[in-house]
Amino acid sequence: MSKLIIRGGKPLSGSVKINGAKNSAVAVIAAAILCKGTTVLENVPQISDVKILFHIMEKLGVEIKWLEEDVVSIFAGDDIETDAIYEEVSSLRASNLLLGSLLGRFGKAAVALPGGCDLGARPMDLHIKGFTRLGADAQFVDDRYIEAKVKDHLQGAVIYLDFPSVGATENIMMAAAVAEGQTIIENVAKEPEIVDLANFLNNAGAKIRGAGTDIIRIDGVKSLRGCRHGIIPDRIEAGTFLSIAAVTGSKLRLENVISAHLKPVIAKMRETGTDIRCSGSNMYVSGPEKLKAVSIQTLAHPGFPTDMQPQMMAMAALANGTSVIVENIFEKRMKAAAELNKMGADITIDGKTAVIKGVDKLHGAVVETHDLRAGAALVAAALAAEGETVVERLSLIDRGYYHIADKLTQIGGDVERIDE
Ligand code: EPZ
Repeated sequence: MSKLIIRGGKPLSGSVKINGAKNSAVAVIAAAILCKGTTVLENVPQISDVKILFHIMEKLGVEIKWLEEDVVSIFAGDDIETDAIYEEVSSLRASNLLLGSLLGRFGKAAVALPGGCDLGARPMDLHIKGFTRLGADAQFVDDRYIEAKVKDHLQGAVIYLDFPSVGATENIMMAAAVAEGQTIIENVAKEPEIVDLANFLNNAGAKIRGAGTDIIRIDGVKSLRGCRHGIIPDRIEAGTFLSIAAVTGSKLRLENVISAHLKPVIAKMRETGTDIRCSGSNMYVSGPEKLKAVSIQTLAHPGFPTDMQPQMMAMAALANGTSVIVENIFEKRMKAAAELNKMGADITIDGKTAVIKGVDKLHGAVVETHDLRAGAALVAAALAAEGETVVERLSLIDRGYYHIADKLTQIGGDVERIDE
């Protein structure tokens, strides 16, 4: 079990290059299956979620090759498998995005349900609803996997999403791209990753309008062809490094960032007294002597992103005053609190609300990563804490942060990775 040993309490400095976005990469990679011919993707993060998805796709018969450090070619022939219902598939939530591309390309798909997740229930009802509206016969099988198939071809439809689900929006968009006729999807997710996926699909010949707004209109086409596409930068990795600078009172430069994707995060960070300046694809952040308490509600984009909630909790732990954070997206995404309290934080949880009374200092402790972003929050807290912190279950952090120990060392962090 790998872990990080972090000796905190000193300011950091320097530049960090932000990688391609995990939550865009996994969707665009899955969507490449829709394309006849070869797709080349640039700015692909070498994180473990991407590597696991590649492994699952290779087992289906998709040919995948790293051409350069972050450039990958993907070729899905006409004879690849459409069933991915074995154990490993469940370990990766994003594997559910294979449903839309396999169904769109081959008229059938079977993908294992995402496994137990530390964020609470991860239902798939909206995905099933969308596929059904497009004319597919989609259902859960033995509570183990989802199967979707269509007799002759998918048919465009009007689909209303009860909740602006990111994954459901992506899956339905992929299938509808090659359905017959027009599809209108209402109350869709508006995250930047949705726009990036729509841009990729349009590069491949799709006719998708409205991504990033509440309604997406798609005129189905016969087929899509391989193309070249660059993945957008990871706004959550960037936000995580903003929180690291904020909580350690450091000055950092972030490179390869689209600041427009971080509007809600920048606005909230500035309320804490953190100074953030944007210039082209760079961001300059300077943490204050003492953070101010803030209150946050996580919401679908363009609201405050749930993927930055634990990191804000770590900042609030050291702020002047009491902060309140309400997690509206996931039912169990407050697990960072108990670990931060081991470091001397004063956080109480009541259902989906966290009340954080700021303390003067945090101290080192042995803490456990429960999910990817909670782990990131513990790393930020450890860099600010006095003494040594051991952050366990590093594999969960590796899912979304590439070479996190190296990046932190490069900006002056006293960080050691132990792989056991
Ligand atoms: C995506 O997950 C992201 N993952 C998550 O990032 C992110 O937290 C989430 O969107 C919200 O922004 C990827 O893109 C790979 P949802 P996804 O469907 O698609 C409910 C990270 O740390 N819902 O928008 O699974 C669901 O219960 C990860 O990078 C239904 O009710 O999220 C949840 O409460 C964590 N029915 C809410 O929607 C459905 O059919 C948000 O889920 C689907 C979802």
